[in-house]
Amino acid sequence: MNSVEIKKDIYWVGGIDWDLRNFHGYMTQRGSTYNAYLIVDDKVTLIDTVKHYLRDEMFERISEIIDPSKIDYVVSNHVEMDHSGSIPYLMKKCPKAKIVASPNGVKGLKKHYGDSYNYKTVKTGDTLDIGKRELNFLLTPMVHWPDNMLTYCPDEKILFSNDSFGQHLASSERFDDEYELDIIMEEAKKYYANIVLPYSMQVQNELKAASELDIEIVAPSHGIIFRKYIDKIVEKYKKWSSNKYDKKALIIYDTMWKSTKKIAYAVQNGFEENGYNTRMLNLQYNHISDIMTEVLNAEYICIGSPTLNNNIMPTVASFITYLKGLAPRDRKGLAFGSYGWGGQSIGILHEELKDCGFDLLEDIKINYIPSEKQLDEIKNNIIEQIS
Ligand code: FEO
Repeated sequence: MNSVEIKKDIYWVGGIDWDLRNFHGYMTQRGSTYNAYLIVDDKVTLIDTVKHYLRDEMFERISEIIDPSKIDYVVSNHVEMDHSGSIPYLMKKCPKAKIVASPNGVKGLKKHYGDSYNYKTVKTGDTLDIGKRELNFLLTPMVHWPDNMLTYCPDEKILFSNDSFGQHLASSERFDDEYELDIIMEEAKKYYANIVLPYSMQVQNELKAASELDIEIVAPSHGIIFRKYIDKIVEKYKKWSSNKYDKKALIIYDTMWKSTKKIAYAVQNGFEENGYNTRMLNLQYNHISDIMTEVLNAEYICIGSPTLNNNIMPTVASFITYLKGLAPRDRKGLAFGSYGWGGQSIGILHEELKDCGFDLLEDIKINYIPSEKQLDEIKNNIIEQIS
C-alpha cells in the first residue's frame, strides 16, 4: 500500500482496482487504477479521489505521509464517481477541506453529494496559491463530461490531466519507463476509442492549450504516469483526435448457420486483394469494446447479420448501438448478410450505417447459402468498388 513520490512532496496516493473487468460496459481485462495525487505544501492539496470501495486504500497511502485531516483543498477535476466517489468519506475525515472544481463540477458534485460542503469554483486562467507552488486551471468541457478540467502546476511542470491520456491498467509500476510501452499505448488507444472518441474536437482544443505549457510529467487519473514518453502519447492523441485512419477494413458479423460467415470471408478476400489490412470480428467471440479499439484507425466498417425474426441479431444490434454512440466520423461501410425469407437484416444494417454518416458500398444480400460462384462475385465486386 505504498504511496509513490512523483516529485518532491508530491505523491501518488490512488487506488488499484486489480479485479475490475467491466467499466460501464467497457471490458477492462487489465483492471484499472484511480489516481489521486497529494501535494504537501503550506496548503495540503489532494487532486481527485478514488472509487468509493478503494477509499481505505487511498487513506492508508495518505496517512503514510500526513494526517489526512490536514488536507486543505480537494481539487476535483471531474465529477464521475470513479474520481469523486470517496469525497463524502473524505469530507467526514477532513471537515475543513474546501473542494475546488469548475462551475459544472460544483453543480455536478452538489447533485451527487448534496450542498453541505465548502466549494471554490474555478475557471480557465484561475490560479490557486498553495504555498511554494501554485495551481492553474484549464476547463476542458466534454472531455468527456461537461465538468472536466485540467490542473497544471507550473512550479513542478506537472499536468494533472484527469481522464485525458488515461488507460485502464492496474499495475504496481507507476511510470511509463517502468512498464511495457506497447501495453500502455494499447490501453490508451482502447481508452480513447471507448471513452474519448466522440469528443475529438474538444481534445484538439485541449492539445492546443496544453502545447503552450512546459510539461515534464503528465499525471492522468487512470493508469500509468508519463514522464519519458510524453511526446509519444501526445502524438497518438493528435492522430486519434484528427480522425485519421489506416488502410484497414473491419469485417464485423454474427452468423447462425455460417452463411453470413462465408460472405464475411469473401468480403475479406476482396479487401486483402486490394492491400488492406483486415480484422475478422465475430461478435460471438469479440467484445464490443475491443472492436471499438480496432475502429479507431479503420477506414472500412463492414457489418454482417443474418435475418433473425425479421431483424438483425441482438449481438449486432448491441454493437451498432455502441458504435453510434461513440460516433467515429468519415468512415466507409458495408451491410451484408444471408437470409431465408424476409431478408430485413441487410436493409436495417444499411440504414444504421447511413445514420452513422458512412459512405456505403453496395449491400450484399444472399438467400440461404452462398454458392462458390456467388462468393467469387462478392470478392470481385469488393475489389472493383474499392479500387
Ligand atoms: Fe475516469 Fe470519466 O471518469
